[in-house]
Amino acid sequence: KFASFDYDLAVIGSGPGGYVAAIKAAQLGLNTACIEKRATLGGTCLNVGCIPAKSLANSTHKYAEACKDFQKHGIIVENPRFDLSQMMKAKQKAVDGLTKGIGSLFKKNKVTHVPGTATFKGANEIEVDGKKLTAKNFIIATGSEPANLPGGILPIDENRVLSSTGAMQLAEVPKKLLVIGGGVIGLELGSVWSRLGSEVIFVEFFNRIAAGNDLEVAQALQKILEKQGMKFYLSTKVVGGESTSNGVKLNLEGTNSPTTLEGDYALVSVGRRPNTIGLNLEGLGITKDKQGRIEVNDQLQTAVKNIYAIGDVIKGPMLAHKAEEEGIFVAENLGGGKGHINYEAIPGVIYTHPEVAMVGKTEENLKEMNVEYNKGTFPFMANSRARANNETEGFVKVLADKKTDRILGIHIIGPTAGELIMEGVIGMEYKAASEDLARTTHAHPGFCEAIKEACLAAFSKPIHF
Ligand code: FAD
Ligand code: NAI
Repeated sequence: KFASFDYDLAVIGSGPGGYVAAIKAAQLGLNTACIEKRATLGGTCLNVGCIPAKSLANSTHKYAEACKDFQKHGIIVENPRFDLSQMMKAKQKAVDGLTKGIGSLFKKNKVTHVPGTATFKGANEIEVDGKKLTAKNFIIATGSEPANLPGGILPIDENRVLSSTGAMQLAEVPKKLLVIGGGVIGLELGSVWSRLGSEVIFVEFFNRIAAGNDLEVAQALQKILEKQGMKFYLSTKVVGGESTSNGVKLNLEGTNSPTTLEGDYALVSVGRRPNTIGLNLEGLGITKDKQGRIEVNDQLQTAVKNIYAIGDVIKGPMLAHKAEEEGIFVAENLGGGKGHINYEAIPGVIYTHPEVAMVGKTEENLKEMNVEYNKGTFPFMANSRARANNETEGFVKVLADKKTDRILGIHIIGPTAGELIMEGVIGMEYKAASEDLARTTHAHPGFCEAIKEACLAAFSKPIHF
């Protein structure tokens, strides 16, 4: 006798992992529910992550251009000013439109939205705010939350000690913003407030910023951000701190840093932790690794075979598009198809100005792996579009296998790097050699020609440098 369930699939969490999985599963004919505890759909990414961060990045960059760059182009704007509350409204409008859009997509695709917080009661049963819901399969897509500094040092209070969420909702521009952690969030939001006039000081534990990126690119980024006015204390640890009603004080330990730093706000951007509290995973025997991430096999199944997990709550980069691909992968496998996911070709973008983008291996990775490689670089200074636009900072770096010329990694810092990287992603997905990209016609004058030239440099010689 087959058990009958309320749903074929119930997805817990409506972030980019969860909502995409739910839509795909419904499209494949599965009767699907998506449970979300937040009042709006879309998870971290749409509500308090990617989207508000990019809205503020864009608004503040426009203002910085009006202040610093317009004149070079012969545009005279007298005394540019900004209205922070209007910037925040523009951000909220983008968030509201997109989060509501998920509701419409659910209706269109017949996904049932179940509001509330889910807790497992059994392998086929959850409780959502006291109500029972059964399903043949589950996907845990509960995402992540901002991590605090270890040892209870300076807990996030969203008053003076901010997470990314608080740092995107300030009603005033900090005079002095202390950014703890020189990773993606710190770099993006530090840039946002720096453009509006904050003095921004980074304290980073490692001897470098942007830890996952190629070192040469990270060092170039640091120089550019320093030119924009930001300051960095590397190899420096926050060992203590206190917040008062109008400021924050940090105690530091580092080679070239002061022992204390004071600011009116601190942003704690030291990583995010997987969100598994209250799911009752222990009760079901679902295991977690040392970092608290749910353990899954290569089918993304947890220790309980009909319960899958995807996105920030499992291993791998904490990126929206990675979560989405995993959602599609599980939905297609459950829907009778054959899912595909290539972890070797997941792009990563840092939305500073200029942008930083990467795919594949860094030079440091290849050295560690003892892989012999050719390296081709090309500066935007020698790219005609960049010259015409007066956006010449940065370069493209292509790493290709010494024997086969197959592209192993592409790293870009420069104008529209986040869009340009897709050429490298597609190249890597189809196992292109650097010569393949170099022999492909690129539209002139385009920033993309810098990729063609870097590829030429990797297997032969560039033309324009
Ligand atoms: P989430 O988006 O975190 O969604 C999980 C959802 O599950 C949440 O809505 C939560 O409320 C819900 N939930 C949790 N527990 C339960 C429960 N028990 N019952 C019901 N619901 C529950 N990534 C990029 O790729 N590009 C970017 O530009 C980018 N910018 C970012 C900027 C910031 C400031 C931050 C913080 C993150 C950014 N990220 C970016 C990362 C990106 O937001 C995450 O990788 C992505 O949201 C992960 O998706 P997810 O579906 O795994 O989880
Ligand atoms: P992160 O992992 O990118 O960077 C954290 C940094 O903090 C590291 O460099 C680490 O060395 C440093 N650090 C840790 N403890 C410290 C301490 N005690 N003192 C000083 N420095 C310390 O984490 P972040 O920036 O919080 O972002 C979290 C996640 O969100 C990232 O993994 C990223 O995947 C995702 N994200 C992605 C974005 C994008 O794709 N554009 C934008 C924003 C976030």
